[in-house]
Amino acid sequence: MKFSKKDILGIAELSAEEITSILDSASVMKRIILSGQKKTNYLRGTAVLTLFYENSTRTRVSFELAAKYMGADTVNINVSSSSVAKGETLIDTGKTLDAMGADVIIIRHNMSGAPHLLAKHVRASVINAGDGMHEHPTQALLDMYTIREYYKTLEGLKVAIIGDIYHSRVARSNIIGLIKMGAKPVVYGPSTLMPPEIEKMGAEIAPTINDAIYRADVVMGLRMQLERQKNALFPSKSEYARFFGMNPVNMSLAKKHALWMHPGPVNRGVEMSSGIIDGANSVINEQVTNGVAVRMALLYMLAGKQGSKDSKYTDNLVTLPVQEVVV
Ligand code: CP
Repeated sequence: MKFSKKDILGIAELSAEEITSILDSASVMKRIILSGQKKTNYLRGTAVLTLFYENSTRTRVSFELAAKYMGADTVNINVSSSSVAKGETLIDTGKTLDAMGADVIIIRHNMSGAPHLLAKHVRASVINAGDGMHEHPTQALLDMYTIREYYKTLEGLKVAIIGDIYHSRVARSNIIGLIKMGAKPVVYGPSTLMPPEIEKMGAEIAPTINDAIYRADVVMGLRMQLERQKNALFPSKSEYARFFGMNPVNMSLAKKHALWMHPGPVNRGVEMSSGIIDGANSVINEQVTNGVAVRMALLYMLAGKQGSKDSKYTDNLVTLPVQEVVV
């Protein structure tokens, strides 16, 4: 399928067919990563900029690695030492980066909708790397990729999502994507951290943590986002761990081969015990690896369509053997 989007702003804007196409391309990218010969030429001459107004390890570094593996030139803009600190607006910053020849701008911002605003004002493709409490589309794509890699399909799977649903852009993007792909998201968390609209999105709210986990194919923990909580929304971290944390006892209710997932960073011992984080069914590190592959696919699909690059491979990457795609 020909991918015709300029930007990746949210899972809400992607069809099931487009999600499948991204995951298919990511599986080629994963083969490139695993081949040990990671350097390709697909995005040679392409400028990929990361503009993060919030902290990040996984998303920012994996985008940078993904861009480098694709042969792009990368620049990480340090927001605290850039002209943003002098009061430059997001639109003016975007126009400045555009004028320098940016092809792709990857933005993380604490305001929901900031990537959408930027995308309207720049020629470059914009990728949302997390906007406030709204969406984190690349995290959901890598999560769906990880699940699909194990189960071959997302159709009919019970995916339990547990924790701070209210503040979680990861939960929102995953719920939207999982429903589009035919999975059944079931959520559980403190009632103070359960947004009222969640059922309207199509997720089921479980009455207890055990109900959420029972016979789940996937159990996904969410980070307790203390930095976004203005009021005390649960008594203490230890009580949170006791009533809402994933541990070997409650996780034994999931299917035997269920995947244990977390987007990271994990508050070890709060939302998940170490026995789960480092346990046999944990795929947390695979999620990180898959994040690079998914981001390579997205960069390729966006920047490859811009017309100014070698378009030899732009449509049928999925069908190419790895030896034809590495340098
Ligand atoms: N999962 C995730 O977005 O992690 P970072 O905040 O480290 O990018």
